[in-house]
Amino acid sequence: MSDIIKIKEEYLLKLKDDLDLNNINQIKSELFGKTGKISNEFKKMGSMSSDSRKKFASELNVIKDELQETIEKKIKDIEIKEINLKLQNEKVDVTLPERSFKRGKIHPVSQVIDEISSIFSEIGFSVAEGPDVENEYNNFTALNTPDNHPARDMHDTFYLDDNKEYLLRTHTSPVQVRTMLGGKPPFKIIAPGRTYRSDSDQTHAPMFHQVEGLHIDKNINMGHLKGCLNYFIKEFFEIDKIKMRFRPSHFPFTEPSAEVDIGYTLKDGKIIIGEGDKWLEILGCGMVHPNVLKNVKVDPQKFQGYAFGMGIDRLAMLKYGINDLRAFFETDYRWLNHFGFDPLDVPSNYRGLSR
Ligand code: PHE
Repeated sequence: MSDIIKIKEEYLLKLKDDLDLNNINQIKSELFGKTGKISNEFKKMGSMSSDSRKKFASELNVIKDELQETIEKKIKDIEIKEINLKLQNEKVDVTLPERSFKRGKIHPVSQVIDEISSIFSEIGFSVAEGPDVENEYNNFTALNTPDNHPARDMHDTFYLDDNKEYLLRTHTSPVQVRTMLGGKPPFKIIAPGRTYRSDSDQTHAPMFHQVEGLHIDKNINMGHLKGCLNYFIKEFFEIDKIKMRFRPSHFPFTEPSAEVDIGYTLKDGKIIIGEGDKWLEILGCGMVHPNVLKNVKVDPQKFQGYAFGMGIDRLAMLKYGINDLRAFFETDYRWLNHFGFDPLDVPSNYRGLSR
């Protein structure tokens, strides 16, 4: 038997074994590598006479082709085997019961903040934000509430250092200061967010939410304030007619100042807004004090406007009939499940967020 037939027989036999891709590559290089057996046979042709070379070459080519085809087929077989194995292992049992799926709810406060932002954005307000940790200048001094002013005590402030330099903001009014210091008039913003006072009972939590409003321009007067609040309350409570009254009040940062009450009545233990002869206080407001404008580098001879501050939690309680404020912040999953909002439900007065 000639050498090349021997090689052929030997390797065809080897290729019958159960091989993996590594074995095949090994065989390939043994045969066709630089010093592979078949490659070496091709090299021998150089020293042959032209007649025997022709014969040898044609025999050798036939053998080479046969070996190569056998190898290619073997590789295909291995690949198919691997795919089948993979399919077998990755089989999914579609008859198994599905995993239970829980969708979270939106907290009433978040819901109401979104509603408020959406209602005010309709009349040109944008949303501003400030930090919960404030300095006393922004929270008090710039707002015309100097040291020893009695209003400072009224706020039951949480101070963060002995110098009383840093504190948890007691209202959202410092966002007025930040907004005006950070830009040029006109200003037309609302600022919803967390506020803090050392106070806790059924209607007060140490952490609560306010939304500030600020509108400063050349000819803004108290009529604009009234119109704006009237619009907001109607939209928020989704009613056509409301009763609203301004009561004279005092804030260091507004002059004149007022508190706003809305009329309501109780029917079967439920609060009905817009009817009856009872009054509920919902916000403080007024025309921004010239001293505040000076403090934030706005010329009070040229610019004026109004500001207001509302309790968001109170609004949420009124609109959605929730009667204990403390439950808002107890993170009780059952409570949230009951009073929370489905993220996919869009409230009727929702018009998309400007934030
Ligand atoms: N910051 C006041 C408060 O928390 C509310 C307010 C805001 C009053 C803006 C007037 C103007 O009580």
